[in-house]
Amino acid sequence: MTDPQLVLAERVQQALGTAFGQEHAGADPLIRPSQFADYQANVALSLAKRLRRAPREVAQAIADALDADDVFAGVEVSGPGFLNITLRDDWIAAQARQTLDDPRGGVGLTTPPQTVVVDYSAPNAAKEMHVGHLRTTIVGDSLVRMLEHLGNHVVRQNHLGDWGTQFGMLIEYLLVIGEANALARLEAGENNEFYQEARAKFDSDPEFKERSRRRVSTLQGGDPETLRLWHLFMDATIRYFNKVYATLGITLTDDHIAGESMYNPMLAETCDDLEASGVAVISEGALCVFPPGFKGTDDKPLPLIIRKSDGGYGYATTDMAAMRYRVRDLKADRILYVVGADQALHFQMVFAAARQAGWLTDDVSAEHIQIGMMLGSDGRRFRTRSGQSVKLTDLLDEAVERASAAIADRGYDEATRAEIARTVGIGAVKYADLSVSHDSEYIFDFDRMLAFNGNTGPYMQYATARIRSIFRKGGVEPSEATGPITLGERAERDLALQLLGFGSVVENAAAAAEPHRVCAYLFETASAFTTFYEKCPVLKDDVDPAMRASRLALCALTLRVLQTGLNLLGVPVPDRM
Ligand code: ARG
Repeated sequence: MTDPQLVLAERVQQALGTAFGQEHAGADPLIRPSQFADYQANVALSLAKRLRRAPREVAQAIADALDADDVFAGVEVSGPGFLNITLRDDWIAAQARQTLDDPRGGVGLTTPPQTVVVDYSAPNAAKEMHVGHLRTTIVGDSLVRMLEHLGNHVVRQNHLGDWGTQFGMLIEYLLVIGEANALARLEAGENNEFYQEARAKFDSDPEFKERSRRRVSTLQGGDPETLRLWHLFMDATIRYFNKVYATLGITLTDDHIAGESMYNPMLAETCDDLEASGVAVISEGALCVFPPGFKGTDDKPLPLIIRKSDGGYGYATTDMAAMRYRVRDLKADRILYVVGADQALHFQMVFAAARQAGWLTDDVSAEHIQIGMMLGSDGRRFRTRSGQSVKLTDLLDEAVERASAAIADRGYDEATRAEIARTVGIGAVKYADLSVSHDSEYIFDFDRMLAFNGNTGPYMQYATARIRSIFRKGGVEPSEATGPITLGERAERDLALQLLGFGSVVENAAAAAEPHRVCAYLFETASAFTTFYEKCPVLKDDVDPAMRASRLALCALTLRVLQTGLNLLGVPVPDRM
């Protein structure tokens, strides 16, 4: 354990036990960063209330009982009863060295590991894959990477919208324009146009409408030829999704596809079960669950409709079946739904209904990780200038082109420039999605995400490239930075202390499902490194060999933390920039 906050917490708890008896040793020591020391522990204030004693006296008793001379350089009671704690420089230095030698770089393992189902990306085959799906894809993939890095068993589920009554019409339209033509268009990402054309024909051509209707029944009836056409349609569409995933470096593969169609064979049973147990009741011909506490605008109980009055199943039916499957078959301990914030009510109701049914128990945590809407510069839903929705591959191409223009004057040969531009452009888009809290709306702004300053992808990538260049200039590899660390300058100490917090940040970010915490931490780390590098020469001639070795080790640890962090975010790291 190298994270100072955890070490501190443990030592303060020991002192609580010593001073006030074991029954108080479990209290949260309330460790916070401090303006006046490295940290402060605020537990004396709350404990004093319980013990009916003076807070400063309680704080002093904790200070006296602290057995931590190996870790603390000073402990002081201040203000109404805070304990200000300063760490020993040699302790910080030793922890930093140990972290650099640790193959896991100070990131622990979740014990026991959990089975975490992560439902993310989930574009719809009948509509365009839009910028909103980009965000759930990027945020979800980062959560998956973090959870896996912490040793959990992660099950990715791409809940594709690949089923529904529209498919009758889509298959008929595929036949109208010809298989080859249709598939080429779908593979190019023209799902939305395809859908709109099909819809127009459906609305204007009664004969086509009738054929589409019949096609829905043959599809649902499992007619082999209709299923073959459906597969063709889906395969071409998935090829487009996979193109977007490959460009973005997303870890989803065909193995993770668990689309709505997968649940078809379970829907009838799902409804029967809910009806038999009395959780679902017939209301106005439809089978509904009325989870307690949900009211409509008319103050009437709000139904979650799981079978329509015409016998058809819907989005909610599929999600109920998926919940049961994820708990029973996948044996999930935790299920994350990384989906747009506008579906909040749907998931609240599904979770409540699943609890009523006993499918979701207290041992399983179901969480809707709400994704805020992506806005255009006009503050409205993101669209192109002509009001069309934006095709994702075009959007990503533009990011790469802009990144290429931004590095035009750096004298790279064409291949190197193209490679760096790709890394920077894609990294910028991804980092922008991750660096703000996932539930806030935000404005898609190329200029801002591609800025080389501030909490941006390019800045973070540049910070790693700069450290690499220090090693290149010094003629050593980061792995050769094996010397002991000593901390003299304030900036060295600040950087080392900052680096020791990495493990906790990753753990907390995964627990809260908030990748932006990692971004904020990495940004602080890069800033601490900048100050260090301004104040503490590494390669200059007058730096003595021991100091040079120590500073190189700090550079190596910084590089390791930044790289690991960016990797967990899924942001690519260039060698040079
Ligand atoms: N396909 C849906 C959409 O684009 C998202 C599916 C999310 N997952 C789920 N289990 N409902 O809105």
